[in-house]
Amino acid sequence: MPAAGPEGLAAVRARAVGRGRPDGDEEGGGPRAGRDGYTAGKEEAADVHCGGWAGWLVLRALMALLLLALAKSVMKESGTTSVKMGVEGLGEADNGYVVRLQLANHHGCPKEPLRVEEGMGVGKTALVTGAAGLLGSHVSRFLAEYLGMRVVGVDNMSSGMEKNVLEHHNFQFHRGDFGDKRLLEKLFQENRIDVVYHTSEFASDVLSHFTRTFTYSTNLSKSVALLNAAITGQVKSFVYLSASAVYGDAAPPFHELAEPRPNDPYGISKYAFELDLKAAARMFGLEYTIFRAGHLYGPHQNIGDRFHSVVGVFTRHVRNNETITIFGDGRQSRTFTYVKDVVEALSSAPLFVESRNQIFNLGGGEVHTMVSLAQEVGRAFGRVPKLDLTPQSKLKEEAENTVDVGKMNCFFGTAARTPLKDGLAELAQWLEEEQPDIHPHEPTELDISEGLPAEWLQGSVMARRGSDALGAWREVP
Ligand SMILES: NC(=O)c1ccc[n+]([C@@H]2O[C@H](COP(=O)([O-])OP(=O)(O)OC[C@H]3O[C@@H](n4cnc5c(N)ncnc54)[C@H](O)[C@@H]3O)[C@@H](O)[C@H]2O)c1
Repeated sequence: MPAAGPEGLAAVRARAVGRGRPDGDEEGGGPRAGRDGYTAGKEEAADVHCGGWAGWLVLRALMALLLLALAKSVMKESGTTSVKMGVEGLGEADNGYVVRLQLANHHGCPKEPLRVEEGMGVGKTALVTGAAGLLGSHVSRFLAEYLGMRVVGVDNMSSGMEKNVLEHHNFQFHRGDFGDKRLLEKLFQENRIDVVYHTSEFASDVLSHFTRTFTYSTNLSKSVALLNAAITGQVKSFVYLSASAVYGDAAPPFHELAEPRPNDPYGISKYAFELDLKAAARMFGLEYTIFRAGHLYGPHQNIGDRFHSVVGVFTRHVRNNETITIFGDGRQSRTFTYVKDVVEALSSAPLFVESRNQIFNLGGGEVHTMVSLAQEVGRAFGRVPKLDLTPQSKLKEEAENTVDVGKMNCFFGTAARTPLKDGLAELAQWLEEEQPDIHPHEPTELDISEGLPAEWLQGSVMARRGSDALGAWREVP
């Protein structure tokens, strides 16, 4: 197995690139912009300054030499035992995804460079659930374009958007439910699936108290159907997008070794599936990598989703010139991470021997209070946001919900580095340019209405649909 670490990541990319650079390679032409502009800026600039292909190649070679030299000096340092938090370094993938070199040790860090699993990556097939969603679409793209993998994407479009569906010769898309056994059977019969990336579940912590049936049925029962198919189909590796909600009442900043204490059905469902995945790994030898994500945002995000992602909710309100309601005094803090900063770590994890059967926190962006987040969102749209604080609200949110991402940084040599204001500007620009099909996404069943904020039901499909538990809410238009 070849040595990896920061160099290994470069090797993985180099192999993918060797098969053909993202965008433009198929036709054999010069560099051109990817649909989301991952490659455009730098490559077009290289053409102008260095004179087309030859200049581009020279520039690439120089960049590779520089990265190699840096990686070597880094690897020398990484043998020390000091626990130094934080990551410095440099390096950037040519498609806008962040690649950072490891310059610090962290408890739990591998002492040696990561080893790339021989035969993984280029030419292998990945099944990505939620392929039209925020994470699934970026992962699909990274795998297909950058790692040279074949990707089978599945999405039921409940919150996914057509604009996010990748167009690439390495990618095929299936509209459907990831828990649909017949669809899974067909996909596994037609494809030799090597890796599953499960990035689609219903994500809403507070609402999940009122939608327990839907939450457990989607996040647990359907995920188990997917896991069964993966085991039967002899999948090598299963990458699961869990959530920092599994930590619940644990003390922040959450470390992977902290005992999970989820305090809402969403967090419970995520933790339960983590346990089930581990049991499957022990019993059937399936490998897994679990990522516990928290507050990712950026282009490809459906801001119409009313119950998931505070960045999306605030963005929608600011864009529509509506008042933002903040539960509590607005001083609760969260970490907000730009999605492209973590896509490489997430996508390339199963390619490394050392990340087998590991749990990683995924995140590491800026920490903001709800009020300062609202102000930043306002700034991205050139507006002063209208805020309605509800200190008396019965809905309790943790005062702090931050995670320790040292392990992710030192394993993958990546670090979230995009300032919130820049990431929000990217989101605003993408919304403006792409005009995606923003639509609400709601659970199909509401179990309990007591204590549910009235504004959540206004115009809600759940309320119109009605159920015995809804009582008076049934009349809400
Ligand atoms: N984005 C975050 O901040 C965050 C934080 C913690 C955890 N996560 C987890 O990451 C995963 C992806 O989150 P995201 O932000 O990309 O969400 P997203 O809503 O943008 O994407 C999820 C995708 O899954 C699809 N989907 C939902 N149910 C489906 C089903 N039954 N069958 C097929 N497709 C289905 C949706 O249409 C959507 O395209 C989720 O499991 C979520 O719990 C995300």
